[in-house]
Amino acid sequence: MKILSTVVLSVVGLLVVVSVVADRSQMGIGGAAEGPNAEAVVDANGNLKVPADYRTSYQFLGGWAIAADKGQGSREMHVVYASPGTIAAYRKDGHFPDGSVLVKEVFQAATRPMETGTVSHAQQLKGWFVMVKESKNTHPGNSLWGDGWAWSWFDADNPSKTTSTNYQVDCLSCHEPTRATDLVYVEGYPPLNRTH
Ligand code: HEC
Repeated sequence: MKILSTVVLSVVGLLVVVSVVADRSQMGIGGAAEGPNAEAVVDANGNLKVPADYRTSYQFLGGWAIAADKGQGSREMHVVYASPGTIAAYRKDGHFPDGSVLVKEVFQAATRPMETGTVSHAQQLKGWFVMVKESKNTHPGNSLWGDGWAWSWFDADNPSKTTSTNYQVDCLSCHEPTRATDLVYVEGYPPLNRTH
């Protein structure tokens, strides 16, 4: 009888430990931008990093070809990805839900004649722009958070530390023309568009 109750007690003890561990692992880090993907991108202080697995787990949004100043072809190619669920949510109500992550790769392009014509393709990765949707103003003292998003640029050799210091200076003026579409250039992203 004594042995049995000891066994029961230790099983109960084990269950308590297991459930405490499970609870901790379910907590987001910092409670900043919430959502399924935000923890991999935002730390407790609101610093962003490039999500490690975006090329396999994110969804392709669209691409931009930046024409060469002279001659044919493109100088740069930009490739934009969205965290899982962003496209479906946007198609439903035309809004980016909190926790949505957008990643824009910036490539130097190379151009050459190919079977299809004069063709540019992505060559050298220069770095990433990252935006994380956050409408609750959770980091009012952080100069990379505001206007509903967290904003950062990363050089190709350092995906975990931004070189941006102030989104109003580094990002906002260029994104202002897209204020009506939540500061995102949605015209370049066919998956967000339900009509064509
Ligand atoms: C020189 C103007 C300019 C600056 C500065 C700029 N952007 Fe952009 N951004 C654009 C344009 C234009 C696009 C879409 C076309 C393209 O990629 O060329 C874009 C697209 C993006 C995208 C893809 C989603 C979208 O909005 O369409 C992200 C993410 C992004 N920018 C983040 C940033 C962040 C973060 C900063 C500041 C660190 C920043 N941008 C600074 C002009 C700019």
